[in-house]
Amino acid sequence: MHKILANTIFLGKDLVNLTECHSTNSFAASMIKSGQFTEGTVIVAEVQTKGRGQRNNSWHAAPGLNLTFSIIFKSNYLHVDQQFDLNMAMAFGVLEVLQNIHPKIQIKWPNDFLDVNGNKLGGMLIENTISGNLFDTSIVGIGINVNQMEFPVENAISLAGITGKTFDLEWLLEQLLVSIEKQYLLLKNGSHQSIKDSYMDHLFRMGVWASYDDGEPFIGKILGVGPYGHLSIMKQNGKIQSYDFKQIKFI
Ligand code: BTN
Repeated sequence: MHKILANTIFLGKDLVNLTECHSTNSFAASMIKSGQFTEGTVIVAEVQTKGRGQRNNSWHAAPGLNLTFSIIFKSNYLHVDQQFDLNMAMAFGVLEVLQNIHPKIQIKWPNDFLDVNGNKLGGMLIENTISGNLFDTSIVGIGINVNQMEFPVENAISLAGITGKTFDLEWLLEQLLVSIEKQYLLLKNGSHQSIKDSYMDHLFRMGVWASYDDGEPFIGKILGVGPYGHLSIMKQNGKIQSYDFKQIKFI
């Protein structure tokens, strides 16, 4: 992938193309450690041999058929209790592009992209460094299943699987970076509420009764997302409970 990104202001102007690496997030972390990076550096890999997902899972993507990339941001204007605002901005930036391709794609809290049947199309792994009460840097790692048609895991799908079309990876990456940059600049300019509204408007299961497990299976309704990104759910007895990522499963 050798495209010059003409349509962004700063994102991807430093573009590191790797034919293979362990994980673009890990590569970004070593760039940060060495101090050799600029804000908006994008690292793209054709193959990740140790791609990482949320909950310490691994992330598998067939070589050359999908997008696996990471962005480095200097997020030192964000207070630690605003950590989920970056998540929401990034998720909505990705979603806008995915919805232009297929309007029924949704965000599943906190960081997943799902098709209308609940199959996973992609996800994000955001890793931050913190200095005092502020963020210092953020690595936003994004994996999107694009042209892969068969998956070793259940409930996975690609854009090609949903639409029956094949996508140019360079074109898609540029669309994503333009959209992500727009949301990032809104965040930097303080548009926290409008970013939250955009995220909530596209949240899978928002306001509908559905099945969850928090140690015990229950029926609940998502009410929203609170500070630190905790998911707020009302149970059938009217009790409202707040969960972090590890405390709840969607069934
Ligand atoms: C998830 O849904 O579990 C998150 C998946 C994140 C995968 C991306 S691929 C690019 C970047 N590098 C990694 O090792 N992980 C993220």
